Amino acid sequence: MQNRIEVGILGATGMVGQHFIRFLQGHPWFDLKWLGASDRNTGKKYRDAMTWHLAGGTPDTVADLTVQESKPGNAPKLVFSAMDAGVATEIERAFAEAGHVVVSNSRNHRMEQDVPLLVPEINPDHLRLVPCQRKARGWKGQIVTNPNCSTVVLTMGLAPFKPFGIARIVATTMQAISGAGYPGVASMDILGNVIPFIGGEEAKMEQETQKILGEFRGDRIEPLPARMSAHCNRVPVVDGHTVCVSVEFSAKPSLADLRHAIDAFTAVPQQRRLPSAPLRPVIYLEEANRPQPRKDADRERGMTASIGRLRECPVLDYKFVALGHNTVRGAAGAAVLNAELMHSEGMLDR
Ligand SMILES: NC(=O)c1ccc[n+]([C@@H]2O[C@H](COP(=O)([O-])OP(=O)(O)OC[C@H]3O[C@@H](n4cnc5c(N)ncnc54)[C@H](OP(=O)(O)O)[C@@H]3O)[C@@H](O)[C@H]2O)c1
Repeated sequence: MQNRIEVGILGATGMVGQHFIRFLQGHPWFDLKWLGASDRNTGKKYRDAMTWHLAGGTPDTVADLTVQESKPGNAPKLVFSAMDAGVATEIERAFAEAGHVVVSNSRNHRMEQDVPLLVPEINPDHLRLVPCQRKARGWKGQIVTNPNCSTVVLTMGLAPFKPFGIARIVATTMQAISGAGYPGVASMDILGNVIPFIGGEEAKMEQETQKILGEFRGDRIEPLPARMSAHCNRVPVVDGHTVCVSVEFSAKPSLADLRHAIDAFTAVPQQRRLPSAPLRPVIYLEEANRPQPRKDADRERGMTASIGRLRECPVLDYKFVALGHNTVRGAAGAAVLNAELMHSEGMLDR
């Protein structure tokens, strides 16, 4: 693409901000030109404003950019948000009001009735909420969000099964420490240990899953009418959230039906060949001991969800294991794919 679209990042100095910077390197459509952070860092060179935590060092393309105040005005129209949740509500709204397209990774607006909570392979039609949002709020811009990092893994794993009528879900996570940001959980707490609590995570997973798998009804999303229970655990894994899932259907399909549904699953991002879309959004691994975070989280640049161990469940109908990269498919990669979907709909031009 000759004329790439200039983009910015709010919260560029944080852990997720750094993942955005890395993921956007060499992007064929988006050209990262603007970095925002708190007043503490405004005016500094990016290299002096943060400590780079990811492999490979600070990319040269951003090291000398000057960190900007997080106020609308001189930022590009499209901004990705990786801001601290304590400040994201007001700042994202101010940007949307001023005409920016805010593609946010923060939790703040996800469950608002007129805000799309997108997984492009599952609910691209939820973008139809945007005109309602702009009308109701009088905004020239818009806010679109991606789910929590464990929710995206679960919903990608369930997506091929949606046509069979999902009635009940029990999901137990084993979540990587990178999902807690930096410095995250103290090493004394997590090494050789499991922490069976992640504040707010279970409620987020339950509500977000129902919204993502729900139906667009003109001006709102009707949640999936499935009962859902989540157990969320932090485990000593660096990258990759694993989710053990039991699922019940309104009419029980055969195991062969479900396997065929996984193998045949493809969606709008693949059909449109969006630059960050994996060739196969969901892949089934035949080995009895897969998926594993160390071996499978990075598949297709971290954008594919891996499923394995699909079998009968003696309590609900079937059970399986799903795995995805929490900071890529669960954060920066998810938001970039959302923006690519919006661009493919012409929504970045209007
Ligand atoms: N960590 C993950 O894997 C993960 C996964 C999914 C979602 N999330 C969500 O993503 C967001 C960022 O998480 P994180 O782990 O990257 O957090 P983080 O490392 O603490 O970074 C927070 C960012 O917000 C900026 N910020 C703080 N106060 C600000 C203010 N008053 N005005 C403007 N910017 C401000 C910080 O800038 P300064 O450096 O200048 O303070 C920094 O760039 C959070 O909402 C989190 O819930 C995180």
